Amino acid sequence: MPCVVTVGGFYGDEGKGKIVAYLSLKDNFDIAARGGVGPNAGHTFVQEGKEYKVRMLPSAVLNNNTRLLIGSGVLVEPNILLNEIRTFNATDRTYLDFQCGIIDKIHQENDTNNEHLKEIIGTTGTGTGPANADRALRKLKLAKDVPEIALYLEDVSNSINHSIDNNEKVLIEGTQGTFLSLFHGTYPFVTSKDVTSSAICSDVGVGPKKVDDVIIVFKSYVTRVGEGPLNCEITPEQARQKNWLEFGSVTGRQRRSAPFDFDLAKKAIQINSATQIALTKLDILYPDTKGIREFSKLPEDAREFISNVESETGLPITIIGTGAEIMDTIDRRNELEK
Ligand code: IMP
Ligand code: MG
Repeated sequence: MPCVVTVGGFYGDEGKGKIVAYLSLKDNFDIAARGGVGPNAGHTFVQEGKEYKVRMLPSAVLNNNTRLLIGSGVLVEPNILLNEIRTFNATDRTYLDFQCGIIDKIHQENDTNNEHLKEIIGTTGTGTGPANADRALRKLKLAKDVPEIALYLEDVSNSINHSIDNNEKVLIEGTQGTFLSLFHGTYPFVTSKDVTSSAICSDVGVGPKKVDDVIIVFKSYVTRVGEGPLNCEITPEQARQKNWLEFGSVTGRQRRSAPFDFDLAKKAIQINSATQIALTKLDILYPDTKGIREFSKLPEDAREFISNVESETGLPITIIGTGAEIMDTIDRRNELEK
């Protein structure tokens, strides 16, 4: 499977960062390319107790052998990018497209001072919506206009397509989640562009025939940050008791929560043409699964939940997260191939 896409199946924060970090260490990709909106997404992963966060670089950053690409559809905030390149020592393996749009101070101000965006939609305030609006108006500055990042520029779509054509291993990393899509989500409570698998591929310049697998990431329960509908939402107090209470990695806002939603999952699988499921945070739903790395060691109730999701959706759950640590993961890909 040379070209794999990862995509969020609910409202973002499904735990894509950890899944990508796991895949990158396990599968040793030649290239990991980030699609999606921009620094409004925060991907978190934990390696040997140390927590890392990326808002611009792909979550495959811990594998030093992987070239890290940012596609032309992604908005870049140069300071955040340069900081992450420094933090992860990634100067000689980071490349962004000449045509990435640039977020300026004015976009951040327009995102935070605008009542519609800030109060009614509940955006992250990172300037992505106003920057994409300027891009649609064809007045947004592009990466090639910014000297500070000149060193990192290349033709990302060319590079990634070459890599795929040469049978190298490529991972295309989505951000946000299906129901935050401007086209397929709960409009107007959505982000500023489409974020389903086709859009993520378009962001990095890869066409639909080059993709071998689409891994859709679902959390074992649903969360959403900001405004908009959330089916079967529970109260913050109930969420606290279940240990479902989470806080946004970019904004620190308290996330709202609800049980796993089978209807949403089915719709997301359809829109993304997903071929397999990664299920995260099983240990939050079933605490006695924490740290388990073999499927056969899972307790009965957890296995029942998994087979229920599989039979309802018709897709195999190939990767299961049982803890924050990257390696707290059950990988059934070999077993299921047989
Ligand atoms: P914006 O993307 O900052 O314009 O925010 C629009 C909506 O998408 C708000 O509800 C945000 O909370 C949500 N959102 C954007 N990016 C993410 C993400 O990475 N995770 C979760 N929610 C997000
Ligand atoms: Mg997040």
